[in-house]
Amino acid sequence: MEERPVVPTHLGIIMDGNGRWAQKRSLPRTAGHLEGLKALKKVIKEASNQGIGFVTFYVFSTENWKRSKQEVSYLMGLLVSKLHGELAFYNKYNIRILFRGDIATLPKEVATVINNTISATAANTGITCILAINYGGQDEICRAVNRFLEEKPERNITCKDICSHLDLPEVPPVDMIVRSANERRLSNFLLWDSAYAELEFYEKLWPDWNFEDVQRICTDFAKRVRKFGGVQ
Ligand code: FPP
Repeated sequence: MEERPVVPTHLGIIMDGNGRWAQKRSLPRTAGHLEGLKALKKVIKEASNQGIGFVTFYVFSTENWKRSKQEVSYLMGLLVSKLHGELAFYNKYNIRILFRGDIATLPKEVATVINNTISATAANTGITCILAINYGGQDEICRAVNRFLEEKPERNITCKDICSHLDLPEVPPVDMIVRSANERRLSNFLLWDSAYAELEFYEKLWPDWNFEDVQRICTDFAKRVRKFGGVQ
């Protein structure tokens, strides 16, 4: 059966190109991340205007720990200061914030601010913004399997069991994954529930993204015919 939804219910975004944006301006890579946060705010606002229900942003992967100590601690510091500092923004625009990833093993102050942000935005009824932090698709599947084994070690695991033990089982699977900066990889992002996701790759570096980029995503998505393995 053909399905043609107008906008994705759940959009995944691999934000790429912060370093290149900074390098082009002879700025430190960290300046690219700060500008990237500004782009994230514009994108979530427009995604909400477009009627998208959920947007997952790939903020920090399980592989990003390989970056320099300075860059990692800048990103962790940005999370601590901006998650708290941007609460007024999230509440003004009725944005609920959730997280995906191995939050328990993050530095304590990061985990604390994450838990506070979840509580402080829990009553918001608009778009859900999911920040993937210390996130890897393979790691999420392993953690889901281990959660299941703790509950029911006596029987074989099914696909349905994996779905219900992922980090956010209540969030629908991602409909479309987009990536900035002209890179064409998933890089361990949402591996399980991207099984039938539409993919699109754009040239623009992440810090340059604005409202019109979300509009273009919606236009591109509306052209896709989704069959989920069936026939038209
Ligand atoms: C990828 O670009 C970007 C990241 C790994 C970090 C993204 C983080 C933010 C936009 C900040 C979000 C902050 C909050 C508080 C939610 P890259 O550094 O790999 O770019 P490059 O490939 O050009 O080097």
